[in-house]
Amino acid sequence: MFENEITDCCKALKLGAAMAQTSKSIEAETHQEFLYKILLEEIKRRNEAKRVRYLNTAGFYSIKTFEGHRFDEVKLPAALSPDSIKTGEFIDRKENLVLYGNVGTGKTHMATAIGVNACNAGKEVKFFRTAALVNYLSEQKSKGNLTKVLKAINKADLLILDEWGYVPLERDGARLLFQVISDCYEKRSVILTTNQEFSKWITVFYDEQMTASIIDRIVHYGHLVIFDGPSNRLKGALMKN
Ligand SMILES: Nc1ncnc2c1ncn2[C@@H]1O[C@H](COP(=O)(O)OP(=O)(O)O)[C@@H](O)[C@H]1O
Ligand SMILES: [Mg+2]
Repeated sequence: MFENEITDCCKALKLGAAMAQTSKSIEAETHQEFLYKILLEEIKRRNEAKRVRYLNTAGFYSIKTFEGHRFDEVKLPAALSPDSIKTGEFIDRKENLVLYGNVGTGKTHMATAIGVNACNAGKEVKFFRTAALVNYLSEQKSKGNLTKVLKAINKADLLILDEWGYVPLERDGARLLFQVISDCYEKRSVILTTNQEFSKWITVFYDEQMTASIIDRIVHYGHLVIFDGPSNRLKGALMKN
């Protein structure tokens, strides 16, 4: 009864079209209990849809998790425990992470796993290789879309910039990246993965003042995680031989 009418109402109100179906299986003793339970189902459905959307649109290169993850080859600052990294508490506090170490030590893996957990917890994440982001920003700027693109990035709860400082940037590109980082200050967490120590960041931005300002913004609410273990890629390669 009323199945089509309920479906039409759901469409008009942008509620899940499955509500008519769901309503049949809900057990309730009062009208209020029924209403509450069906609203709860709709909230669950929306959260699940959001979780999947965030995972699909974050831009991860591959999905990584903390399953079987060992922390014995990373140096965590006193303020961060392995658990707090996994749960991403620092994201709620809008703090930043700099994951620093040689190639193949697990920086991208950890940054991705943090991002995946954040999506699963209903947070919006944007993941970019830094050079790719800069190219994208320059391209979109020349098309007149910069404001729109920055707005989309600024909607996220967490911005992950992988391979920070691996390739030198054009001046315009450096300025665009500076703007993105500045917009994040005190508003959203940033995770950078890099093999460049802070003193080398001048080679990313050229401009001394801009470099100092970036370091200040990132470090002010930030934690440095040092990856000083042997390269996992190397270990993998050795095991295959
Ligand atoms: N803690 C870990 N447990 C299992 N595999 C890992 C771990 N850290 C890294 N890896 C794997 O080792 C390889 C190199 O790690 P990656 O994160 O790409 O290094 P980096 O970004 O520092 O160059 C990847 O295949 C990654 O999935
Ligand atoms: Mg990497």
